[in-house]
Amino acid sequence: MQQIGKKYNYTGLEFVLSDVKKDKLFSGKIDMVITLHACDTATDYALNFAIQNKAKYIFSVPCCQHEINLSINKGGELDIMLKDGIIKERFCALLTDEFRAQILRAFGYSVDMIEFVDFAHSPKNIMIRAKQTISKFNTKIFEKLQNYIKNYNFSQKLYDLTKNF
Ligand SMILES: C[S@@+](CC[C@H](N)C(=O)[O-])C[C@H]1O[C@@H](n2cnc3c(N)ncnc32)[C@H](O)[C@@H]1O
Repeated sequence: MQQIGKKYNYTGLEFVLSDVKKDKLFSGKIDMVITLHACDTATDYALNFAIQNKAKYIFSVPCCQHEINLSINKGGELDIMLKDGIIKERFCALLTDEFRAQILRAFGYSVDMIEFVDFAHSPKNIMIRAKQTISKFNTKIFEKLQNYIKNYNFSQKLYDLTKNF
């Protein structure tokens, strides 16, 4: 892969094979974090890396959001959304991505969610687009997320990774 950088004269470009869940990814200043279809909680680890390193920009396209789907076991007022497997799966995937957006907002990012390619190309086509705008932490957002987790009884990795930051 290093050959690609050389071929196009990108002298500062380096490819490193790492496990986002446990390896030290980079120790310099981080301007931007991009993820494309990083499986399940791998997206959460990458977003956590971006938050901890105060990356100015984040472009993240999540994929395979299984965590909430596997852990949620009561639906409260939204229990009908958990009755049928395919609906539950999609509902939990959307809940996962909105959780991620909310956590980024709690850390001072302005966030929008966009469809970055047509559904015909990939059903996993929601991009979380974020820019760090304020440095103040918003505890109210976290309290609200904590209530969701308590009331609906599920786990969400980015929440777990950032709740004590
Ligand atoms: C669905 S593929 C997407 C590949 C490519 N980004 C794309 O969109 O075509 C998921 C990728 O996430 C990577 N991945 C999953 N868990 C990871 C982890 N813990 N650390 C680093 N990469 C991970 C896999 O190696 C795989 O390349």
